[in-house]
Amino acid sequence: MTKYFALLPAAGVGARMAANGPKQYLTVGGKPMLRHAVDAFRASPLVAHTYVVVSPDDGVIDSVLPADLDGVTVLRCGGATRMDSVLNGLRALDGRLGAGDMVMVHDAARPGLTPALIAQLIEGVGDDPAGGLLALPVVDTMKRSTPGADGLSVSAATVPRSGLWSAQTPQMFSYALLLRALGSAPDANAITDDASAVEMLGYAPRLIEGHPRNLKVTLPADIRIAEMYLAYKED
Ligand code: CTP
Ligand code: MG
Repeated sequence: MTKYFALLPAAGVGARMAANGPKQYLTVGGKPMLRHAVDAFRASPLVAHTYVVVSPDDGVIDSVLPADLDGVTVLRCGGATRMDSVLNGLRALDGRLGAGDMVMVHDAARPGLTPALIAQLIEGVGDDPAGGLLALPVVDTMKRSTPGADGLSVSAATVPRSGLWSAQTPQMFSYALLLRALGSAPDANAITDDASAVEMLGYAPRLIEGHPRNLKVTLPADIRIAEMYLAYKED
């Protein structure tokens, strides 16, 4: 029987949020943002265990995830980039996870995840060796910008939207594949999601249609949108 684990990178500083501390600890819909994602995995009967990667000097995590909370373990090995945090977490799990175990990597800053979306991903990927990710087909018309005469952006071209998706998380791969992909990626800063590293090995991960409620909270205005979705448990 395949086992499914969750790994949440939560060692970012939230520079674009410009809040008074890392965004994963901001209160959103009544609890710290990170707790929403952790609780979605804890509530899923398909998930064996959840691991959360925080920075070694994190002084907040113990109050957000108390030591006696079942189903979750904190790994204090966050790195300088998201990719480093995920890779450090994977390496820390050496011996605890088997090569064929499936790892769902999920941003701590996506509080709208639900057990239903987790099940959708697992079912959609099935036993595809390339893994897969939640994503949304792009709906807007896409523009390629260039600097105009005054240095501000102008639209140089319209990029055909057909075939374009925006990547979400969770992104799910076997432990062995994810470790190999991230371990061989040439530039940690260029790897903003896990699938891109897997693609570099020549695999084509499955795109599983997710839901807008699973948005990544990046800018201050995103908090209100996330709270609107969180008011509905499932939709
Ligand atoms: N992350 C991480 N380690 C890092 C950087 C990011 O674990 N060194 C995590 C974040 O905590 C977040 C996820 O990766 O859960 C997605 O990253 P992002 O939305 O970019 O968060 P931040 O890096 O914190 O925000 P910003 O880029 O605005 O600084
Ligand atoms: Mg970042």
